[in-house]
Amino acid sequence: MQETLQLNQLPEPEQCIREVRKWLDERPQKPLAYVHSFGCQLNVADGEKLSGILSEMGYDFTNDVNEASLILYNTCAVRENAEDRVFGTLGSIKKLKTENPALILCVTGCMTAQKTVADKIAKSYRYVDIVLGSSAVGKLAQMIWAHMNGMRHAWDIETYIDIPEGVPTVRESTFKGAVPIMYGCNNFCTYCIVPYVRGRERSRTPEAIIEEVRGLIAEGYKEIMLLGQNVNSYAPECGMKFPELLREIDKIEGDYWIRFMSSHPKDAGTELMDALLECEHVAKHLHLPVQSGSNEILKRMNRRYTVEKYLRQVEYIRSKVPDFSLTTDLIVGFPDETEQDFQATLDIVKKVRYDNMYSFIYSKRTGTKAAEMPDGISEKEKSERMGRLLALQREISIENNQRFIGRTLKVLCDGESKKRSGRMTGRSSENMLVEFSGTPEMIGTFVYVKITESHSGMISGELS
Ligand code: SAM
Ligand code: SF4
Ligand code: F3S
Repeated sequence: MQETLQLNQLPEPEQCIREVRKWLDERPQKPLAYVHSFGCQLNVADGEKLSGILSEMGYDFTNDVNEASLILYNTCAVRENAEDRVFGTLGSIKKLKTENPALILCVTGCMTAQKTVADKIAKSYRYVDIVLGSSAVGKLAQMIWAHMNGMRHAWDIETYIDIPEGVPTVRESTFKGAVPIMYGCNNFCTYCIVPYVRGRERSRTPEAIIEEVRGLIAEGYKEIMLLGQNVNSYAPECGMKFPELLREIDKIEGDYWIRFMSSHPKDAGTELMDALLECEHVAKHLHLPVQSGSNEILKRMNRRYTVEKYLRQVEYIRSKVPDFSLTTDLIVGFPDETEQDFQATLDIVKKVRYDNMYSFIYSKRTGTKAAEMPDGISEKEKSERMGRLLALQREISIENNQRFIGRTLKVLCDGESKKRSGRMTGRSSENMLVEFSGTPEMIGTFVYVKITESHSGMISGELS
C-alpha cells in the first residue's frame, strides 16, 4: 500500500470538510452518497453521523448504489453471518468500482477494528479506498480529503475513545430519534466481540444528552431511543446514574416517548424499574437480555448474575404491573451447552413469558474467551434447539398477545402495512407491533387503536 500522506499530518476535520465541499461544488451535478449501516441501533446512529458529515461536505443521498459516487458500508462484527454479509456485499460491488474508478468506496464500523478483517480487506478487497475503525466518525472528513489528495488507500483502524459532540446528523426518521448516551463496553461477556471493537465504556455528559433530546422534541420527534451497549451502567464519572437521567429527561414537556436499550441485568436494580414505571414519558417496556437460563452457562458467559437474581428483577416489576412487557436476547448453543442447560433456558422463557425475543445461535468470535472453549455440540443440534426455542416463544407470544384484546392502546404510527393494503402499522408503549385501519398522513403521529385481534407477532384493531 503506497501512502504518500501521513495520517497524523492531515488538516483539521473542519478544514477538510470546507475544502472537499469546495471541490464538490465545482462539479456540474451534486454528488450522491449511498450509506448503509449493518448491526445494532448504535451503529445505525453512527451511520447517521457519518451521513451528517457527508452532507456537510456537499453530498446528497441515494438508495441506489448504481447512481452513487461514494458508497459507505458501516459494518457489524457481532456474529460471523453479519461479517459474511458485508464481504458478500463488497464482492457484489467490485463491478461498480471497476466500471467507475472514481467511485469512492468506504468501509467503517465494528468489523474494521479487527486486524484480521483489515488484513483481509487489504488482501482480497483492494478496491476499497477508505477503511475507518469504529468510533472514528470524526475522521471521515480527513480520510475523504486524503483520498481526494491522492492517498490511494486511506486507512485508520484505531478505536477512538473521544466522543465527538455537535457532529451534524442526517437522521433516517423524522419522528424517531436515536440518542447514544454511552459508547463501548466493559463487561467482556466471553462470547462477545463488542468490547474488543468498541473499546471501554465512556459516557456523554447529562447536559449534552438532555440538550440533544430537548432539541429533538422541539423539532417534533415523538420517540427518543437512548442507546448504549449497557445503558444502565451510565455514568458514574458524570455524577448521574441512568435512572436519574431518565427522570431528568422525563421533565421535558411534550407528547413523546423515551425508550432505551440495552440494559444489562447485573445493573438493572429497583431504581431503574421505579424510574421506568413512574416516568410519564418512558415507554412501558423493558428489554432485559438474559442470554441463558442456566447458571453454569451464565457463569461461563461471564454475565455476572444468576437466574435467581434475574427472576427477582422480573418479579419486582411484575409485582407492580402483572403483565409488564419484557423482551430478551438469548444465545443457543454456547460451547458445550448440555440438553439440561438448554432445558433451563426453556424453563426461564416459560417463567418470564416474554412478549418477544431475539435469539441467536452462538457464533464463535476469534479473540474472545469463548472461542477457546471446547465445544462438542454439533451445528445440527444447535439448530434443533433453536427450532424448539422459537416454537415455545411463538406459543407464548400468541397467548400473551390476547391480553390486549378489548384494550385501547396509544400507538406511534410508523408506516403502511406491507401485508394488507389500507392498513397502517406502529408500536404501542409496550413495544407491541400494532396493525390498524388508517391513512399515510398518520405516519409519525400518535393514534389510539382499539385492539380486536391478536396474532403471533402482532396485534390488530381499529382507530378509536
Ligand atoms: N449489550 C447488550 C447486552 O449485553 O445485552 C447486547 C448487545 S449485542 C450487540 C446483541 C446481542 O447479540 C447479545 O445480547 C447477544 O444475545 C448476541 N450476541 C453477541 N455475541 C454473540 C455471539 N458471539 N454469538 C451469538 N450471539 C451473540
Ligand atoms: Fe457484549 Fe456483554 Fe457488552 Fe453486551 S454487555 S455488548 S453482550 S460484552
Ligand atoms: Fe455489531 Fe458493533 Fe453493534 S459489532 S451489534 S454494530 S456494536
